[in-house]
Amino acid sequence: MAGLIPVPPADLVVRNIGRLTTWHAPVIVDAAVVIRAGRVSWTGADRDLTGVGDVPELDAGGAAVLPGFVDCHTHAVWAGSRRDDFVGRLSGGGYSPGGIRTTVEATRAASYDELLAGAVDRLAAMQRSGTTTVEIKSGYGLTPGDEVQLLTVAGHAAEQVGIGATTTYLGAHVVPPERDRDDYVDEVVAMLPVAVQHGAQWCDVFCDDGAFTVEEARRILTAGRTAGLGLRMHAEQLSHTGAALLAAELGCASADHLDHVTDEDARALAASGVVAVLVPVVSLYTRSHRWAHAQVLRDAGCTLAIATDCNPGSAWCESMPVAVQLACLGMGLPVDAALRAATLGGAAALCRDDVGHLGTGARGDLVVLAADHEADLVAHLGTQAVIRTVVDGCPIG
Ligand code: NIG
Ligand code: FE
Repeated sequence: MAGLIPVPPADLVVRNIGRLTTWHAPVIVDAAVVIRAGRVSWTGADRDLTGVGDVPELDAGGAAVLPGFVDCHTHAVWAGSRRDDFVGRLSGGGYSPGGIRTTVEATRAASYDELLAGAVDRLAAMQRSGTTTVEIKSGYGLTPGDEVQLLTVAGHAAEQVGIGATTTYLGAHVVPPERDRDDYVDEVVAMLPVAVQHGAQWCDVFCDDGAFTVEEARRILTAGRTAGLGLRMHAEQLSHTGAALLAAELGCASADHLDHVTDEDARALAASGVVAVLVPVVSLYTRSHRWAHAQVLRDAGCTLAIATDCNPGSAWCESMPVAVQLACLGMGLPVDAALRAATLGGAAALCRDDVGHLGTGARGDLVVLAADHEADLVAHLGTQAVIRTVVDGCPIG
């Protein structure tokens, strides 16, 4: 599903930008951006803008503008609800990966159209909150037919919404209750080429207690690479298993969660160039209150990304601004580092150099904030932080 072209690439000039973040220069004050055929062709001071011609104009009204958010970890296709788990946690229950089976049951029972409608709603909500590129995992089907359906729904939902998308085969989410463990791992391995045929670009494994072991993950990911998939891992989320060292050894594009990461793991990830994906909504939503790993990963020099992990069990949240707020307020990231992680970092996790920044030639994907300073995205809670999302030069909404 790489390279979906969500909307017709357009020409656009965005003027009257109070503060423009491109990541290629210091913030430009009183700025403008020119987009030609969906790509950034010029950025600079608004007063220096000349010879644009008859191009549609978007007046940013003095607001701050950022590159569109790159949400590099979501499970956006599901049916049913996990509100009972959520309510239970508020009276002392904990988060368990066993809850994934509730969603698998509801997802298998849903029709294609029901799954599509739910995914479209979520992706549209993401886009309204400023996400312009999203990674979408399967993983709530856990039969070959159901997993293919989830990958297909993900692609069609992204096309319908007009959001850039890439899809990930996560057959290795949990072992379905009706299956023998070893047989199921064999089936996941056999499914990898089928996932590729249905547009998957990535293979992910939930490597943890209650999910898959390091040796199972090694087998699945190695086969995934052979099938032509890029690799990513849910690693060190609920316990310390050695998953991060495996991600480093295999050169995964990303290792995600990492709540139980050690200094040694973090150094290995940094040395192997594995992007560390922080999902702070999970720390709040599951009430694990685990935040300290972010500093361990920063200290080791890892490239950081921030993602929503949008899913019904551990992070029912479509909003990258909320994820950024929690990365700052919970994990202690400076605003600048968090905004980078939510844009450039997400792009690095997806091995993309055409999104997450506003350099010349980048996709014309940007967000106009409801504020004249980008730090207010974190400082001002509880509002719609993004007032306009632009995808490939097309203002949405
Ligand atoms: O990223 N860790 C595994 N998967 C999801 C949770 C899925 C669920 O609880 O439904 C996660 O947190
Ligand atoms: Fe996840």
